[in-house]
Amino acid sequence: MKEISKIKEAKLWIKPHLKKGLRIGFVPTMGALHEGHLRLIRQSKQENDITVCSIFVNPVQFNNPDDLAKYPRNIVQDARMLKSNGCDMLFSPEVEEMYPDGKTPNNDIEFGMLDKVMEGKFRPGHFKGVVIVVRKLFDILSPSNAYFGKKDYQQLMVITRMKEILGLPVNIIGCETVREDDGLAMSSRNLRLTIGERQVARRIFEVLCKVREKGSKTPVWELKEWANKKIQEDSRFRVEYFEIAERETLMPIENWGQKTQAVALTAVYLGDVRLIDNVELFS
Ligand code: PAF
Repeated sequence: MKEISKIKEAKLWIKPHLKKGLRIGFVPTMGALHEGHLRLIRQSKQENDITVCSIFVNPVQFNNPDDLAKYPRNIVQDARMLKSNGCDMLFSPEVEEMYPDGKTPNNDIEFGMLDKVMEGKFRPGHFKGVVIVVRKLFDILSPSNAYFGKKDYQQLMVITRMKEILGLPVNIIGCETVREDDGLAMSSRNLRLTIGERQVARRIFEVLCKVREKGSKTPVWELKEWANKKIQEDSRFRVEYFEIAERETLMPIENWGQKTQAVALTAVYLGDVRLIDNVELFS
């Protein structure tokens, strides 16, 4: 596996592959890799000629400096995992390489409400930072297909919209959330849970599944109220939001209409670790 940290070198490495018309699959990450990331790598390997992964803890998408400081980093182990899963190139630039002199590229894309609800509301500036970095990474690596986990459902919708607005020649591929045996969505942040917190963390997915089961038989407001209460029955949890929204626009749903394609999404603090998860309803 080729390891590259400079933009110029990454472009040079990609160029001959593009010239040959090879398909480049791209998995953007912030490192601290787990099985969820590795599934994306494996899917990319099946669907492309070349697979590239980036590891870059993108400072401009963190609205909370403490969260940025505590973000787990383990590049040596990550590189080993990528290598053994057949990744062809790892691009892991320093912050100065991506944002020389601390300057970030302009991002003037208008997403309407899509980047303002839920994560957008509670993490102001987060999606602006995600869009800046993903756009830049696409520009450097010229992928044909880019893979994103559905755990970050709103991020997937924002990036899909970005691709449409800018008319980028890349397919955005959303992949199913990978879960631990007890249902907890895999996340680099899980590493920060205490043993006790880890034991009860399954509650988030359990409540989401129950919401899916209750589905349209229960009024939306009642479902949301029930879910909030149920999660917080254990005082270690604090729900930041629990929303039921239309799948593509992420506009909150107030009443079940006919054939509503919905998704239930939540952000929950367990101790001081913020976890997000979601399930699609009525597939
Ligand atoms: O989902 C992530 O890990 C990040 O938001 C991404 C897409 C790599 C951009 O920094």
